[in-house]
Amino acid sequence: MSGGSRFDRTADRYAAHARSRDWRQFVDWCRPQPDDRALDVAGGPGLLSAALLPLVASVTVVDASLRLLELAPAGVERVHARAEQLPFADGSFDLVTCVMSLHHVARPPRVLDEIARVLAPGGRVVLEDAIADPDPDIARRWEQVERLRDPEHVRLLELGEARRRLHAAGLRLDAEETWIRTIPTDRWIETAGCSHGAASQVRELVGAASFTQRMWRARFAPAAAGA
Ligand SMILES: C[S@@+](CC[C@H](N)C(=O)[O-])C[C@H]1O[C@@H](n2cnc3c(N)ncnc32)[C@H](O)[C@@H]1O
Repeated sequence: MSGGSRFDRTADRYAAHARSRDWRQFVDWCRPQPDDRALDVAGGPGLLSAALLPLVASVTVVDASLRLLELAPAGVERVHARAEQLPFADGSFDLVTCVMSLHHVARPPRVLDEIARVLAPGGRVVLEDAIADPDPDIARRWEQVERLRDPEHVRLLELGEARRRLHAAGLRLDAEETWIRTIPTDRWIETAGCSHGAASQVRELVGAASFTQRMWRARFAPAAAGA
């Protein structure tokens, strides 16, 4: 793979942000088992991987940013690849996760298909991401802010979009939740490392010291044969 992404350029800053997260609730959603072979797709600096490591047999983190992968903790297997084409055989993993990354990948449906493909029978997929506002006008305006802050932002998925795609790929929804989180505007801008000009524009468009974002998390399992 060629070229450095914005995550290569802002790797240390992004890793510090990921380190500040308490991963325990997400790990609980994964229901980790001692025999699990876990895969974190677009897992960046591997903080979720590190939290899973003592609870499972092995953890692999795959990411497009070499610089972020270099920051992954010891014991985590690192693979430099695109989520759209995972370099693993069908059914290689018992637990597949993807956190805050579906809105960054060029082809989210393709990535969801890949996630379903590498999942072993009886395994679990756990996803989390911000989702688009249900009002299409608000969603469209917000996409402009996101891309101004980070030109590599692709698009927020609509609620139900990932669920439908995974269902078509043979997975059933096991659990799902949505919630609203509050994000400090300056910290959000700073993490992306955008130019001074873009930062001022984003600050003006957001127009407040903080804003809220709709979040979604879901766990999937293979549908029973004949379901
Ligand atoms: C917001 S970060 C999330 C990282 C990690 N999941 C976490 O929660 O800390 C998005 C990640 O997606 C990765 N990424 C973006 N496009 C990708 C692609 N097509 N394939 C693999 N990784 C990708 C970036 O390099 C970055 O590490």
